[in-house]
Amino acid sequence: MDSFKNYLFLWLFIIPTWTTAGADGFTPLGRFRQSSALVGNKLYFFGSSVIVQSRDNIILDVTLSTLNTSNPLWFLSNSSVPTNSAFASACVGGPYKNMIYLLEHLNTTNDVSNNIIVYALDTISGTWIIPIMSGTIPVSRQQFQAINDANGKIYMFGGFKGFMSPNSGGVLNDINILDTFSLTWIQGSNVSAPTSRADFSATLLKNGLILYLGGGDNINMAEIPIYDTYNNSWSKMIATGDSIDPRSGHTAVLSPDGHVIIYGGSKNNATLDQSQQIASLDTTLNPYKWSVKSMIGNNVPPPLVFHSATIVGNFMILAFGQKGVNNAFDSNDLNSQLYILDTRNYVWVTSTNTSTNSPNPQNPSVAQIQTVIVSNSNSLSTGVIVAIPIISNVLIAIAGFIGYWLFKKNERDDIVRIAGSKNTA
Ligand SMILES: *[C@@H]1O[C@H](CO)[C@@H](O)[C@H](O)[C@H]1NC(C)=O
Ligand SMILES: *[C@@H]1O[C@H](CO)[C@@H](O)[C@H](O)[C@H]1NC(C)=O
Ligand SMILES: *[C@@H]1O[C@H](CO)[C@@H](O)[C@H](O)[C@H]1NC(C)=O
Ligand SMILES: *[C@@H]1O[C@H](CO)[C@@H](O)[C@H](O)[C@H]1NC(C)=O
Ligand SMILES: *[C@@H]1O[C@H](CO)[C@@H](O)[C@H](O)[C@H]1NC(C)=O
Ligand SMILES: *[C@@H]1O[C@H](CO)[C@@H](O)[C@H](O)[C@H]1NC(C)=O
Ligand SMILES: *[C@@H]1O[C@H](CO)[C@@H](O)[C@H](O)[C@H]1NC(C)=O
Repeated sequence: MDSFKNYLFLWLFIIPTWTTAGADGFTPLGRFRQSSALVGNKLYFFGSSVIVQSRDNIILDVTLSTLNTSNPLWFLSNSSVPTNSAFASACVGGPYKNMIYLLEHLNTTNDVSNNIIVYALDTISGTWIIPIMSGTIPVSRQQFQAINDANGKIYMFGGFKGFMSPNSGGVLNDINILDTFSLTWIQGSNVSAPTSRADFSATLLKNGLILYLGGGDNINMAEIPIYDTYNNSWSKMIATGDSIDPRSGHTAVLSPDGHVIIYGGSKNNATLDQSQQIASLDTTLNPYKWSVKSMIGNNVPPPLVFHSATIVGNFMILAFGQKGVNNAFDSNDLNSQLYILDTRNYVWVTSTNTSTNSPNPQNPSVAQIQTVIVSNSNSLSTGVIVAIPIISNVLIAIAGFIGYWLFKKNERDDIVRIAGSKNTA
């Protein structure tokens, strides 16, 4: 009886802590130039150009059966970013796709670093580390979008060299590949590379091609630079269809039916025409074909720049960014609302509850919880621990399930981790 009571007490204590940690009505203020990455059904946002928000690590639960624009489930994570982060890029990697790699130009004392610094967040333990990288570390940069493939590689192209760094000045067009399994930087191809650019979007297609769209007031949106991740080579595609205004600071996602959907951005420091906010590139055709889309639905977004976009199932989720008003962007007029596009019909909706939106539910693949013991290799031993774990409860509970003895026996050399699910960051 007593032991039953103890057991009950343990779970009553742990479960509420686990499920409510950080939530309780937290609503983030508007921000811009944050970075974001999706792990399972948790969408992470890091930093902001608003200095008091620049170490924020905030999490949105994007479970499709409950996600809605009126009452999004936000969490403020205690695992703050270890530097003042803005203009950076976050990608998912590691053997279990549960690590987030933040590619930064600032070190932990907020000085511009000559070479790129990788901060890695273990999303299971909430611990940030700075892994030691081998290979040629690329010069630091900002205002770029890096992108990961499904095999632990992160592709970092272009961007702007820091204003204050020793190697400041200029926009880049190099491509560097971070292998998150071996923690090695590899130089990509520079043969037939596109011109230098910043504030572009990068989208990985299912066939291993990365499409770089926009990134300058004079960059032709119909002439698309493509990096082939299978044989490390550049090519380009001249797209047909509607004429698309040049832009930068926009977002792009890949829909499940093979369309690259771009939203917002600015041109010559002004908002785009309303008829140009959203466009779709059909990559199932050869050549690819652009179509501008009308803004329809009951929750149409304002013009946005420096926002975030993520695809979850069939839904594109926009968050944050500067709002465009009277043809201009104001760094004090920041978006704090979510906007959700159903990519099957290009209608802006208020909820992803698929039973209300369509007869065709499509959740992202659900996180497969699987506990594994990883030998303590380079991947986590080296580097500085700069934040404390937030969900040790969860870790202990899981360790309990698989056998506490195993955890105990190995805890000096090993680390317990849970495999994440699919990665669409
Ligand atoms: C985060 O920190 C606050 C304040 O220190 C604390 O009350 C809260 O329990 C912490 N949350 C988690 C999930 O550790
Ligand atoms: C989702 O939609 C169904 C059908 O309209 C409804 O019964 C259910 O309560 C909704 N779920 C939520 C979380 O609103
Ligand atoms: C909106 O999301 C919140 C948080 O998940 C949930 O509690 C609420 O039921 C949802 N409302 C609707 C109408 O789906
Ligand atoms: C950050 O960089 C500055 C300038 O190079 C250096 O003085 C400082 O020690 C560095 N901080 C850390 C924590 O490495
Ligand atoms: C291209 O890369 C090769 C090999 O890394 C290097 O030797 C060469 O200087 C590069 N060319 C340009 C134009 O950057
Ligand atoms: C890479 O693969 C593509 C598609 O198979 C091919 O068209 C291209 O010529 C290849 N490039 C190189 C440098 O091998
Ligand atoms: C863009 O507009 C903002 C706000 O009006 C202004 O502060 C900034 O200097 C402008 N930038 C350029 C490059 O014109």
